[in-house]
Amino acid sequence: MVRLFRVSKIYPPNYAALADIHLQIEKGEFVFLNGPSGAGKTTLLRLLFREEEATEGQIIVNGRNITRLNGGAVARLRQELGLVFQEFKLLPTLTALENVALAAEVVGTPRREGRKKAFHLLRELGLKDKHDCKPPALSGGEQQRVAIARALVNDPILVLADEPTGNLDAEMAEETMRLFLRIHEQGTTVVIATHDTGLLQRFSHRVVYLQRGRLVGDSKPADGERSA
Ligand SMILES: Nc1ncnc2c1ncn2[C@@H]1O[C@H](COP(=O)(O)OP(=O)(O)OP(=O)(O)O)[C@@H](O)[C@H]1O
Ligand SMILES: [Mg+2]
Repeated sequence: MVRLFRVSKIYPPNYAALADIHLQIEKGEFVFLNGPSGAGKTTLLRLLFREEEATEGQIIVNGRNITRLNGGAVARLRQELGLVFQEFKLLPTLTALENVALAAEVVGTPRREGRKKAFHLLRELGLKDKHDCKPPALSGGEQQRVAIARALVNDPILVLADEPTGNLDAEMAEETMRLFLRIHEQGTTVVIATHDTGLLQRFSHRVVYLQRGRLVGDSKPADGERSA
């Protein structure tokens, strides 16, 4: 599903955020990206949806070499992905339901169906009573869950999430993780960047560990050991 060959990312003028990364993630895997602040977790995710271009190396996502893509191809790539990033803000003038449903409509889902999917996802995320609230009237954690619903509404083949439980209390973080696990069980590949070592311990999945831009650990649950 995802393959990185010798990937480096240098931010101008000269900051090596990622160096010589080799990584392979198979279809249907669930992977945590872990490592200290500044290790390059967000940068790695941003390379995968072409928010940033690799300085060196090759990246394959869902069979496509994304190292060189024109604007149209980048848009098609992103339609296959579910992106949960803090900077992708909700639209403040639309309700929670409309925010989620709109994401379905823009890829051609009939309006009724989009709203229905949005309704179910919001309910699963514990936001049953908040469908009609606009983002300014939602707490940070509620907004985050709406953003997660929006990322999932088009049944992405690959979900990339950056600190998706960062604003959530322990109980809601757990619920949210369960939702990611559910979509993983349905065959979706999931990659989650997180500092939260507690999460890694509670959910035994593969952990890819970055440190100062290098991949220094990669442990699968079957290995019975952890680098992080
Ligand atoms: N646009 C940019 N321009 C220059 N340097 C950047 C840019 N984005 C990130 N960096 C630097 O690259 C390094 C890696 O950043 P990144 O955001 O990938 O780390 P991270 O592992 O996600 O950290 P955190 O856990 O704090 O979110 C950091 O030192 C950061 O300052
Ligand atoms: Mg980050």
